[in-house]
Amino acid sequence: MLKDLSQKSFLKEVDFTKNELESIIELSEELKFKERHQLPHRYLNGKHLALLFEKQSTRTRSAFTVAATKMGAHVSYLGKNDLQLGKKESVQDTAVVLGSMFDGIAFRGFEQKTVEELAQYSNVPVWNGLTNEWHPTQMLADFLTIKEHFGTYEGKTVTFIGDGRNNVAHSLLVTSAILGVNVHIVSPKSLQPDEEVQKMALSISKTSGSEVVVTDNIQEGIYSSDVIYTDVWCSMGEEDQLEKRFELLKDYQVNQHLINLTGKNNTLFLHCLPAIHDLNTEMGQLCFEKFGVTCMEVTDDVFKSDYSKVFQQAENRMHTIKALLAITCGELF
Ligand code: CP
Ligand code: NVA
Repeated sequence: MLKDLSQKSFLKEVDFTKNELESIIELSEELKFKERHQLPHRYLNGKHLALLFEKQSTRTRSAFTVAATKMGAHVSYLGKNDLQLGKKESVQDTAVVLGSMFDGIAFRGFEQKTVEELAQYSNVPVWNGLTNEWHPTQMLADFLTIKEHFGTYEGKTVTFIGDGRNNVAHSLLVTSAILGVNVHIVSPKSLQPDEEVQKMALSISKTSGSEVVVTDNIQEGIYSSDVIYTDVWCSMGEEDQLEKRFELLKDYQVNQHLINLTGKNNTLFLHCLPAIHDLNTEMGQLCFEKFGVTCMEVTDDVFKSDYSKVFQQAENRMHTIKALLAITCGELF
């Protein structure tokens, strides 16, 4: 039975119960089925949504745009140069104005505080499309993809390897703990999750029964993983850390040898994307010039392997965001 989440904002996972997150994932499955079978699902007919993006995006912006449009809404994209946000107009005033015109607001940017303030003052649902701290809409797609692959995420072990203090690692740690999924974060000590986030996950895991492991020991952390997940070594805005990150993380690259360390024969590889897995990007070229490598956090063979479901995961951003919009802002109930 779906939880009624009408008008609730989606700012970070810890604000949601297991039941509520599962309602969104279940609705995603239903809407994916409806789309495949061309069944009507125009739950947002006549609504207007604002997309406020301070940082770049391919998947999240596209997912919000297409999901909303397919359900009958109209979206307005407001990039960082289109608004006065924080420069000549406070976030609070912006929130009041946008809330008086739009039925919901998606935000991608730097500070979690900004998205929290938008939600506090706009009086409409606000969805966090990534901040420095969290990436909650990504999690919906990730757990849908795991469920589609294994039939369930119950009892599975999800391992994130790489920059363990970034938004995706933080979100994966806490979401797994809420859902009762075992979670390992494998990172050098200086890049392990924020202590507060670790405490949060550990405390939640006491009731959910999830096993939480944070380690710099690759063998120990990878063994018995059902899912290996990684992300870029320099998140947006951290590009000046490239040399330092390469030195810290080069042994934490996802390659076939690392996959074999799971000891399993049906491991799933996930990555939120974008990924530096070949030389077909400016960043890939820069890494080749600086370090003589042809890939960074994941090798091209793993990225393109049968067990890599990164493009299914990317498509699922749209189906899950559709569910999120419908359940919080649509005429569903
Ligand atoms: N995974 C993800 O959020 O991708 P974008 O940065 O392209 O939105
Ligand atoms: N950690 C990455 C995620 C991109 C989807 C970043 O913040 O740039």
